[in-house]
Amino acid sequence: MKEYSSKHRILILGASGFIGNAIYKELLGYFRTFGTYRIPKKIFEDNHQFFQYNVEEDDVYEVLKATKPTIIISCLRGEFRAQTIAHQHIAEYLVEHNCKLIFLSSANVFDAYSKYPSYELDKTLSGSIYGHFKIKIENMLLRLPKKKVAIVRLPMVLGSQSPRLKELKQHLQNKTAIEIFPNIIMNVTTDSKLTQQIHYIINQDKYGIFHLGSTDLVHHDDYFKDIVEQITSKNEVLYKHVYTTNEDRYLAVLPKFNKLPKHLEITSTEVLEDLTK
Ligand SMILES: NC(=O)c1ccc[n+]([C@@H]2O[C@H](COP(=O)([O-])OP(=O)(O)OC[C@H]3O[C@@H](n4cnc5c(N)ncnc54)[C@H](OP(=O)(O)O)[C@@H]3O)[C@@H](O)[C@H]2O)c1
Repeated sequence: MKEYSSKHRILILGASGFIGNAIYKELLGYFRTFGTYRIPKKIFEDNHQFFQYNVEEDDVYEVLKATKPTIIISCLRGEFRAQTIAHQHIAEYLVEHNCKLIFLSSANVFDAYSKYPSYELDKTLSGSIYGHFKIKIENMLLRLPKKKVAIVRLPMVLGSQSPRLKELKQHLQNKTAIEIFPNIIMNVTTDSKLTQQIHYIINQDKYGIFHLGSTDLVHHDDYFKDIVEQITSKNEVLYKHVYTTNEDRYLAVLPKFNKLPKHLEITSTEVLEDLTK
């Protein structure tokens, strides 16, 4: 049996997904790491560290009982009400056990504010159902003892295997239009930088709210055009310009109070370079 230097047992909820699976691969060699998947696939069924879990049908407590995690990383998608109940059960587990939660939240918790980028301590306010849902879970978690929770707010996460990049490539192949949002100013990151940041948060026993976006901001339309240039030599690319407002809108999460070390920061140019790796 493999010897692990750390005392941690890690459970990744949503370990079959884009981000969850990247985190699983990053942590696997260092910690006793378990994961969940929803859709049966041989690769997960054959892996005895993986458990099938559907947030709408199963009780998360069963997975917690079977894996006894000291760190839970929540990378789930799924029906919002069911996810809220699951996170309530997780919160109860945290209080009763020596366990901490890392919750993947989103820049959308600020999507009702448009005039400025957002920092960790800014008040959340959302105009979207998704943003509302993330705020509800965040608020529930912020009532727990503070060392029990790390909330990581993410901007758009890109990477060579990211669903967004695959979608872009599909559009290029099918010669269909790529949606770009000229009014949106955002930051971005990659799955590979994010996994290093999560690893650091675990190793250093960090807690609180983290804004894990690139240090600089980009316009959505310019940036998507840069991505397209990076991944294809085609000249004729179709774009559909989507204007949600007349003025520029920020959807950006910048760190100010809870910064990670310099080597864990990323710029939008580095994100771009990462896409062809
Ligand atoms: N990707 C981004 O740009 C981004 C940005 C901000 C925040 N986030 C947050 O990061 C987290 C992970 O996002 P992602 O992009 O990695 O998503 P993803 O690729 O769609 O993965 C979602 C994971 O959740 C599982 N899942 C979906 N429905 C489920 C259900 N009903 N019951 C149980 N498990 C279910 C999936 O399992 P199956 O694969 O088996 O279906 C998969 O493991 C989410 O909480 C998301 O809000 C992502």
